Formats: sequence, C-alpha cells, structure tokens
Amino acid sequence: MTQLYSTLAEVYHEMYQHVFDYDVEFQFYNTILKNNNCHKILEIGCGSGMLARRFLGNGYHYLGLDLYNEMLDIARREVGSDRFVQGDMRNLKFDTQFEAILITGRSLAYVIENHGITSNFEGVFNSLINNGLFVFGVFDAKQIFDNFSDFEQNIEHGSKKIRRISHLEKNLATGWTWDWKAKYIIEQDGKVSEFDDLTTLRAFTRDEIEIFLKLAGFNIAETIDEGKAFTVIARKE
Ligand SMILES: C[S@@+](CC[C@H](N)C(=O)[O-])C[C@H]1O[C@@H](n2cnc3c(N)ncnc32)[C@H](O)[C@@H]1O
Repeated sequence: MTQLYSTLAEVYHEMYQHVFDYDVEFQFYNTILKNNNCHKILEIGCGSGMLARRFLGNGYHYLGLDLYNEMLDIARREVGSDRFVQGDMRNLKFDTQFEAILITGRSLAYVIENHGITSNFEGVFNSLINNGLFVFGVFDAKQIFDNFSDFEQNIEHGSKKIRRISHLEKNLATGWTWDWKAKYIIEQDGKVSEFDDLTTLRAFTRDEIEIFLKLAGFNIAETIDEGKAFTVIARKE
C-alpha cells in the first residue's frame, strides 16, 4: 500500500505544489460548477486541501473527504477550516445531499477493483440531489499503456530538494492496472533521507467509464480530453 499519503504526506504536499497548477485546476472546476449553478459541493480525494482553500475562498459551501488522516491534518492546518472528513470513497454515506461531487487529482486511480468503482459511483449517486453533477478525472488507459515508461522528477521546495525516481510495471491484475515503484531521495541541510514506495494504479477506457456510469444511473454530459487523462461530467437524471 502506498505511503505517499501517510508517511510521506508532508513530502506530497510540498512536492505537488510544483507538480500541479492548482490555480488552473481550480478555474477548470469553477467554470464547470458555475455553468451548472452548483454551490454545495463535495470534493473526494481532497488531499492536503490545495483546492479546498480556493473553493472556500470563492464562497462555495464545501466539504472535503479523504482516506488518510495525515492528508486531512495538513488540509486543516493549511486551510484553517474544519470542512474536512475522513472516509473511503468506496463507502460514502452522508445525511445531506450535494449539488455537485468532484473526484479531483485523478484519485479514482487508487480504486483498482470493479466493485470499488461500482460502490463509489452508487455512493456518489445517492449523495447527489436530483440533476446533481458528478465530475471526475481518470487516467486514459490507451495513453498510459501507449506511453509506458519510467520517469524522474526533481523538485525544489524552499531549502528542500526532492528527487523521485519512478519505475512502472504493468500488472493488469484488476483492469488497466500497473505498479508504480518510486524512490524518494530528500535532501535538506546536508541530510539525505530515502523512502521506497509501491502503489498500484488503474486507468480506464472511455467505454469502461461509460458502462460503470450507466450501471449507477448517470448520464454522461461531456468528456474532456486532457492527453494522458480525461475528465467526465455526468448527471444524475
Ligand atoms: C493524487 S492525490 C490527489 C489529492 C488532491 N486532490 C490534489 O490534487 O492534490 C490522491 C488522493 O486520493 C486519496 N485517496 C486514495 N484512496 C482513497 C479512497 N479510497 N477514498 C478517499 N480518498 C482516497 C489520497 O489520500 C490522496 O489524498
């Protein structure tokens, strides 16, 4: 199981501020939400709260959910809000309904088994108002497996240097899944520490996503191509 959101949660938080452009991400979701008059939202896989800060700052009625308390502790600290709950996206239960539910940062990649996807989609369906919007991004199986190669990232955050060497292996055990073996080498004030991490991730074809959504009762409104990923906007109708 990955350590990226537990032992390495602070490293994730520091590193991904330089990997993702959260202003651009926020504007992407903000445009979709505004166009559909959605104000009361749930963000699944909210991580360390980088989008939460922007949603709350822009007046959304926001709740963030994540599996890992280590990520939520950072989110609460960074955003200064208690609008976060711990939970597993495969087992969603709320006593309220939302106008829109987002799964951000391609977090659905961590749900590698079919029954996890169906449980998530059913939970999202039940947690949305009628006509509510479900917006999520996933890795595109064709793009991932056509361009399957190891990679390395070097990131500087203040006085800290983070080097991540990623080795990928196809496993295809539960779908378009692969093992991501990552070595983190962290250097600060002359001290070096190393961590090895193993994560299994899943990509999807558009047909797979369409079938899963139909089974849960959703209609796809739009699919937005993003190269190695795509975002789906679906509606509970
Ligand atoms: C790639 S990170 C994205 C975090 C954040 N959206 C961002 O863009 O920085 C994936 C997130 O999904 C969360 N996650 C993984 N499996 C989950 C599950 N079963 N239920 C809820 N959250 C989960 C992780 O803890 C992590 O915060």
